[in-house]
Amino acid sequence: APIVHVLGARPNFVKAAPVIDALAARGAEQAVVHTGQHYDERMSEIFFTELGLPEPDVNLGVGSGSHAAQTAALLTGLEQEFTSRSPALVIVYGDVNSTIAAALVAAKLQIPVAHVEAGLRSFDMTMPEEVNRRLTDQLSDLCLVTSPEAVGHLANEGVPVERAHLVGNPMIDTLLRNLDAFDTGRVRAGLGLPARYVLATLHRPANVDAPDIAAELVGHLHGVADLADVAIPVHPRGRATLLAAGLDAHPRVHVLEPLGYIDFLAAVRGAAAVVTDSGGLQEETTILGVPCLTVRPNTERPITITHGTNRLVTFEELVPEARKALEGDDPARAERRPPLWDGQAGPRIADVVMEFLGEYGAAR
Ligand code: UD1
Repeated sequence: APIVHVLGARPNFVKAAPVIDALAARGAEQAVVHTGQHYDERMSEIFFTELGLPEPDVNLGVGSGSHAAQTAALLTGLEQEFTSRSPALVIVYGDVNSTIAAALVAAKLQIPVAHVEAGLRSFDMTMPEEVNRRLTDQLSDLCLVTSPEAVGHLANEGVPVERAHLVGNPMIDTLLRNLDAFDTGRVRAGLGLPARYVLATLHRPANVDAPDIAAELVGHLHGVADLADVAIPVHPRGRATLLAAGLDAHPRVHVLEPLGYIDFLAAVRGAAAVVTDSGGLQEETTILGVPCLTVRPNTERPITITHGTNRLVTFEELVPEARKALEGDDPARAERRPPLWDGQAGPRIADVVMEFLGEYGAAR
């Protein structure tokens, strides 16, 4: 019976690549189920190609919709898939709707679940991802943890300690593995960016869904663009709202299509600062040493603040904090890496999974 990886959205692809490789190296039988939550070529296919991910065994094509409609399509499609494939274990990643749906279906079919990136908490239940994280961890037999404080969060929620394993961060495995390919000069030339620029990404519902809030944010981004060119690859979610708010009206704002993994990380590596509301980018900037201004009231990744380059900013703080970052007079950043963000998370996860399957199989 195969280990089935369920992948749905862009960040899932980046986290799964090193896990799938490490399991393949251990001779595991595997299958990849793509839910189709992300479906645009630039949101999905390019990641499979660049990261050397195996072609999905199936794509469920669930597409977009309200949370209920999308989750319902995920549940129905995944139930059929798990029933016909009888997985030995289902591995889910991160905090997207595909993650909770797969964990829920597997649990009801009494298939064990492993959750990669378990235990992160923003304690902000207005974020759909926080709902997904909490519920997924309750349903998981293996909680694979990227950051030490996450173990405590799981314990506080009654998850038995023996389920939690601190394994490091597979997104950082992918980053370190591809580091040599992040050619900033090539990407800058291709995108027409000057030597000093700010890279921005914004896609959280709280920032881009409401036109008045998006317009306010665009005003502050224009303030940043008064200081330095701003390159912003636009996620399809916020595209219409941000453009309606006049995002591209400033001559130094470069509105871009979503970038592939290699070009995107090359652009991040060369940036003087990053402005974002993404989760993964808080981690990637920490390892690349690029100042990161996170436009959110909270983060489920506090280790990127204590051990990295991240800082939470309000809308009003965005321009002054960007100025500090651009002038390089940011207070000294800790020269420490979060523990186990060393490029070996994939192999550690594979070891935990293989051991679990050995014990689980023996107990049945
Ligand atoms: C999802 C995740 C979010 C993650 C993000 C990464 C959930 C609840 N949210 O947000 O945590 O940070 O992915 O990118 O799962 N769309 C397209 N093409 C695509 C995909 C989406 O045009 O390939 C557009 C559609 O208009 C869609 C909207 O984006 O309605 C939102 O897509 P959805 O998958 O619901 O969530 P994301 O905002 O992408």
